[in-house]
Parts: sequence; structure tokens; C-alpha cells
Amino acid sequence: MRILSGIQPSGTLHLGNYFGMMKPAIELQEKGDAYYFIADLHALTTVRDPAALRTHGRELAVDFLACGLDPARSVFFRQSDVPTVTELAWILSTVTPMGLLERCHSFKDKTARGLGATHGLFAYPVLMAADILIYDSDLVPVGRDQKQHLEVTRDIAIKINEIYGDVFKLPEPSIREDTAIVPGLDGSKMSKSYDNTIEIFAPENVLKKKVMGIKTDSTPVESPKPVENSSILGLYKLVASESDYRSMESDFLNGGVGYGDLKKRLFGGIWEFFAGQRARREEILADSGLVNRVLDEGAIKARETADKVMTRVRKAVGL
Ligand code: ADP
Ligand code: TRP
Repeated sequence: MRILSGIQPSGTLHLGNYFGMMKPAIELQEKGDAYYFIADLHALTTVRDPAALRTHGRELAVDFLACGLDPARSVFFRQSDVPTVTELAWILSTVTPMGLLERCHSFKDKTARGLGATHGLFAYPVLMAADILIYDSDLVPVGRDQKQHLEVTRDIAIKINEIYGDVFKLPEPSIREDTAIVPGLDGSKMSKSYDNTIEIFAPENVLKKKVMGIKTDSTPVESPKPVENSSILGLYKLVASESDYRSMESDFLNGGVGYGDLKKRLFGGIWEFFAGQRARREEILADSGLVNRVLDEGAIKARETADKVMTRVRKAVGL
């Protein structure tokens, strides 16, 4: 089974990215042949600073490795190191109905937030379909916000297969319901775009300040506190043991413990959860050539697989 996912180097890794996409992707490495990449071509739709794009890409690669991506098991590469993916995106775009892209939430959300309505932003799902189809992927682990893009990918693959015969496998999304939407500091979905993120590798004082800044209501210390939609509880569930989680939940239900104390406990949980990853990250950073070695090797393997599929596609469409 081929498993594939990508993540854009458009910011710093946060808890939403980790629990929504990275952790499931890392766990799936055991289940098949995994291909994971840094989606730098996609990030060009929003990042216009070349130095920032490079820095984010490098940091994201370090973080992914620190979190457990095993390059001996999985192929890890930069999207732009396989330029044929843009050729496939063009071929796919020739059968993609405008209406299919017009319905995509992500384009509507991004333009509503003030991003320029560029062709790249509009055609983003077509490039994503190419990413997935060019490696004959079976399973794509992502957070729930990417579900629609997987539907678009399947629609495009079906269209190509209808016109040209059996060219593509139909990929399935893998969305873990327990971490489909990780809440942010303000209770809405954690996202760079909402400025409500908790960065997992932030220094201790910065992380603590972030967690202490989680928005709460004005329930007095002694009163029971609402558990529905609580970011504190929602996040604690991800990092704490079952019994620690239950004990915090009963403190919410019974009252007597203030939000400040609950947040301190949450901070402790997050800090401890990532201790191993932080140590591994330091080791990776100390080996200056490691990341480039891994990504360069990954690129060679990724190109090999992509080239095979592209030979099949070119033949099928008549090029
Ligand atoms: P952001 O919303 O911060 O810009 P991205 O769109 O770059 O994050 O998301 C990268 C990956 O992380 C995607 O697979 C996405 O589904 C997942 N992801 C991001 N935020 C969350 C969240 N709050 N909950 C679950 N998954 C998330
Ligand atoms: N669009 C994805 C995101 O914003 C990143 C991505 C690009 C991706 N290509 C992909 C994810 C292919 C899975 C498969 O998170």
C-alpha cells in the first residue's frame, strides 16, 4: 500500500499540524510504503519571501524527522525536486471542470481573508491531485480541512480514467476522527491563518505564555466549568494519559480549580509529551548535512516512481 502526504512550508509546526497530519502519517509508516513531502510549490501561493520559504522548508523537514519520520522506511522529499508533478498538473487541468474548483472552500476562505485571487491559488487542488496521483497513492493522511481536496483528486482521476482508460488508482483519505480538528487558543480550529496556534518546538517560556493565553470564560474558581468546546480539555486529551485526562475533566465538572491551574497542567502535559521529539531535534540540528542528505536521497526515489507513472500518463493521453 502506498501512503502519501504533504505539508506546506508556510509557517512553524503547530499542535494542529502535528495531531491532524504528522502523527497519523508517522504511525502509518508501519503500514506500507510511505511518501512524505514538503509542499514548497503549494507554499508559493502564499509565501512571497524566498528566504522565509527556504527557512520554513528546512525547519519543517527537521521537525518532521524529529517527530519520527524514518528515512530508512519512508521516502521524504521536496515537492519541487520532482518537476514532472507540474506537467501532470497541467494534463489534469485540461479535464478539470472550472465548477469543481469554484466549489472549493479553501480558495473561497483564502480570498475572503484578503489573499489575491491568483490562478495558482485557484488551481491549488489540481496540483495537489497531481501530487497524489503521480505516486499511485492509495491512502492520504490529512486533517479534515483537506477532505474536499481529496474528493477533487478522485473526481479528476475518474475523469481521466473515463476519457483515457485505466490510468490512475483512486486514492482514499485517511482522517482520524479523534484529531480531525485540533482547537486553537480561541477555541476555533487551530490555524496559522487565525493566529491561534501553539508551536510545538517553541522555547519553554514562549510555550508557557501561549498556553496561559488560552481564552477562557469568567467562571469563578469554585464553580464547575463548561467542558463542551473547552480548548484546555480538548488539547489536554491529546497529550495526557487517560487517567490524567479524567482527573482534569472531573476538576472541570466539580469546580474548585481555577483556569490558571488547569492551563499550567496543560502546559506541563504538552512540554512532557514532546520531550523525546525535542531531544531528537537537537541531534538532527547538530548534524548539519543530515536534512539535505535525506531530502536529496528521497528526491531520487520519488523521481523514479513519478517517472514510471508519467510514462504511463503521456502514453495514455497521446504525448
Ligand atoms: P494551517 O491551517 O495552520 O495553515 P495547514 O493548512 O498548513 O495548516 O495544514 C497542514 C496539515 O495539518 C493539513 O493536513 C491539515 O489538515 C492539518 N491541520 C492543520 N490544522 C489542523 C487542526 N487544527 N486540526 C487538525 N488538523 C490540522
Ligand atoms: N494542501 C495540503 C495542506 O495545505 C498540503 C498538500 C499538498 C498535500 N499536496 C498534498 C497533502 C498531497 C496531502 C497530499 O495541508
